[in-house]
Amino acid sequence: MASTCVVGLQWGDEAKGKIVDILTAEHDFVVRYNGGANAGHTVVRDGKTYKLSLLPTGILSPNMTAVIGNGVVVNPVKFLEETAQLRQAGIPIGDNLLLSNHAHLIFPYHVEEERLCEQGNGGDQAIGTTGRGIGPCYMDKVNRAQGIRVGEMLHPEHFLERLRSILPRKNAILKALSPDARAFEPKALCDEYLGYAQQMKSHVCDTADVLHRALKDGKRLLFEAAQGSLLDVDHGTYPYVTSSNSSTTGVWSGSGVPARNLTRIIGIIKAYTTRVGRGPFPTELDDGPEGLGEKIRKTGREYGTVTGRPRRCGWFDTVAVRHSARLGGVDELALMLLDVLSVVSELKICTAYEMDGQKTDVFPGDAFLLERCKPIYETLPGWQTDISAIRELKKLPPAARRYMDRLAELIELPVSIVSIGPDREQTIMVK
Ligand code: IMO
Ligand code: MG
Repeated sequence: MASTCVVGLQWGDEAKGKIVDILTAEHDFVVRYNGGANAGHTVVRDGKTYKLSLLPTGILSPNMTAVIGNGVVVNPVKFLEETAQLRQAGIPIGDNLLLSNHAHLIFPYHVEEERLCEQGNGGDQAIGTTGRGIGPCYMDKVNRAQGIRVGEMLHPEHFLERLRSILPRKNAILKALSPDARAFEPKALCDEYLGYAQQMKSHVCDTADVLHRALKDGKRLLFEAAQGSLLDVDHGTYPYVTSSNSSTTGVWSGSGVPARNLTRIIGIIKAYTTRVGRGPFPTELDDGPEGLGEKIRKTGREYGTVTGRPRRCGWFDTVAVRHSARLGGVDELALMLLDVLSVVSELKICTAYEMDGQKTDVFPGDAFLLERCKPIYETLPGWQTDISAIRELKKLPPAARRYMDRLAELIELPVSIVSIGPDREQTIMVK
């Protein structure tokens, strides 16, 4: 049976949401398997813009069942905010949205813990996170004794017991991080969350079981990754990563669906590179307010969906993307935001690094080593004309074709989709 995964191959914000939205027609279920409300997926549909951070973007399609898998970390406030927003926009939310009973819950103390850790030591150890409590929630999941899953909210006495056992230790940790830390009280937090549980419980189920049955019935699943593969906790630029497996490696653990069911893996690449938060970025264009980096940022509207932070911008890095494409078992590429590069007269592509005086095309999965890598570029001419109205590959300017073909050659994968604007129509399917 045909199941697909859409995965970002850079540091996130590759416009995965648009490709997911296009593919919904060919699938029955859309599944998020990692991250939480740190993702920012913008989808433009019929002139309306939708911004989702926790719910799968596929929820916008009435034919789809949307699943939040066990690998996701869920803040109930965000869950309820986003579902309310969608209902207001006329999108029906009912049994088309399923939430794993095994997904972990984000509590306000996770957000507080992250804030204090990011600020601690004068910000010396900051990762530059989105501040959504993602990292501390995953820490508690792996810690076991301190983690609480969605399904536990449906058992009020048990839930209160868990909070009573967890909060003394958590409050002590927060206090140790800062004397001004907020303290949390079990009964109050329990009551607050039981209120949310009332509104969420109709969605909660064993989603792994649902997905297994769906596969048996011949349904087609669409997996929607959050973040990008270079932010993967195991294979990204550690420690400047997110706390989940944001590459396709997270599909199996984060949904319970064996990876062998994936018959199509689409790697999403932006025509240039962006990164939000701290961490090495060899091809960054850090060239001031009059520079090319700023020009690309303005043209591509490269500001974070979740935090509004300006994204760091730079040239395309084929060393990094070849690494994440191989890691993810990627079959084909979707090249996004190609239109943005129309403002650049000469384009650079990073083909290798120089590290400690040696040339290498191996991506080091360590931030401290990547920091020592200097990009080696090749230069291609730009096309400097508006391509956003083009609908056929053969009508693209030769320079744009050449850029696209060269990326494909260096990444060693074909480009199957080219996006030249945010609207659904602004998409070229490569035959
Ligand atoms: P989408 O789904 C871009 C980055 C943060 C930070 C690091 C860790 O829109 O592509 P976290 O809050 O996850 O602990 O922060 O990861 N980050 C993202 N960057 N797009 C995202 O998601 C991101 N989600 C997290 O900026 O550097
Ligand atoms: Mg984002």
